[in-house]
Amino acid sequence: MSTESLCRICGHTVHEFFDFGRQPLSDAFTVPEADSREEFFFRLATGICENCTMVQLTEEVQRDSMFHEDYPYHSSGSTFMRAHFEDFAKRLLATELATDDPFVVEMGCNDGVMLSTLAAAGVRHLGVEPSGGVADVAAAKGIRVRKSFFEESTAREILEEEGPADVVYAANTLCHIPYMDSILRGVKTLLTPTGVFVFEDPYLGDILERTSFDQIYDEHFFFFTARSVQAMAALHGLELVDVERLTVHGGEVRYTLAPSGARTPSDAVAELLAEEARNQVAELATLEKFGERVNNIREDLVALLSRLREEGATVVGYGATAKSATVNNFCGIGPDLIPFVSDSTPAKQGRLTPGVHIPVRDPEAFSDPYPDYALLFAWNHADEIMAKEQEFSAAGGRWILYVPEVHIV
Ligand code: SAM
Ligand code: TMP
Repeated sequence: MSTESLCRICGHTVHEFFDFGRQPLSDAFTVPEADSREEFFFRLATGICENCTMVQLTEEVQRDSMFHEDYPYHSSGSTFMRAHFEDFAKRLLATELATDDPFVVEMGCNDGVMLSTLAAAGVRHLGVEPSGGVADVAAAKGIRVRKSFFEESTAREILEEEGPADVVYAANTLCHIPYMDSILRGVKTLLTPTGVFVFEDPYLGDILERTSFDQIYDEHFFFFTARSVQAMAALHGLELVDVERLTVHGGEVRYTLAPSGARTPSDAVAELLAEEARNQVAELATLEKFGERVNNIREDLVALLSRLREEGATVVGYGATAKSATVNNFCGIGPDLIPFVSDSTPAKQGRLTPGVHIPVRDPEAFSDPYPDYALLFAWNHADEIMAKEQEFSAAGGRWILYVPEVHIV
């Protein structure tokens, strides 16, 4: 087993700090009659680059096996996320896009959750989305979508056909893309000299603080910090000019890059860099301690679920998230401990969760009858879900959470 690999950003040595073992594709929900021998597994392990400090997976999964016609994640499924993207789109309209005939390109626009606001405002836009099913949903909303992966060649074609972009945007997408060289060359090619590349992704600082190890799965290849993003940008003539902490998806950062020297970096950049240095975020020892906490969570969660089963209590999963693939497969939680997971996404219902094969059922099953406990895999949507499921709590139901440690509320 190799414990060293080469950094996908700068080519230096990556030192492995945690191995989650054999894992399936986190969004590969199978049909019950599928041949389980055909299910794809890979080794999910994380490491840190000794040079640029980028934390990353040590093994890469082929992009077409993750992002395809049936990619099941629909961004508009959460009311809260819809509001989040609408707010951001309105902010863009008032700032970066408040020019004459601006043009914005979004990579990973999914079902158009962000671009729909810009399209309604009549802004020239283009979504680049390889997953055909969600791209069709965006197109049906009147959004212009190009069904392809964003990479350097795509950027060149867009530049030729539509001219340069004032804003290139990506939410929960850049961290999915190992071929960062091609992406950043493409972004640099496409941007106007005064343009910006804005992206938001889960923040390593929050993952460490909350021990949210379930942010680590096949699709999340990189785990960014201000420091590693600054180093990555510099390799491509780009500069980190702003950062903004976000509470969505369990803690993210919105990074703004601009062509080097084009803009003065905000104080927030220096402040986040200083905080990361104080918390020793980019130290191997810090990451190894995170790994110890992850092992403790596994032990505690399995012990709790086993005890509840012995006591005859019913426990159901809530939210068949991509994140839950890591939890269930790493902890060995299957239908014997969780008979089903309730999820509001039609594309996941009637299927089995990846690897451990827990049936996914629609939300009606959750209340028919309510279980004694619900294991909240979609903990990043806790406020929205708990508000919606007040009857479950009123009926005596309790929520089980596993970050930052196993607890019942
Ligand atoms: N932006 C949405 C959001 O924040 O909810 C969607 C995020 S979803 C987790 C990631 C999306 O990135 C998927 O729709 C996937 O198809 C897309 N994607 C993956 N690789 C891409 C690439 N190279 N270019 C453009 N989109 C990509
Ligand atoms: P995410 O953590 O990647 O956003 O995925 C959230 C999953 O949880 C997605 O499959 C939809 C599901 N979900 C529900 O079942 N009910 C809800 O109220 C919300 C917000 C999400």
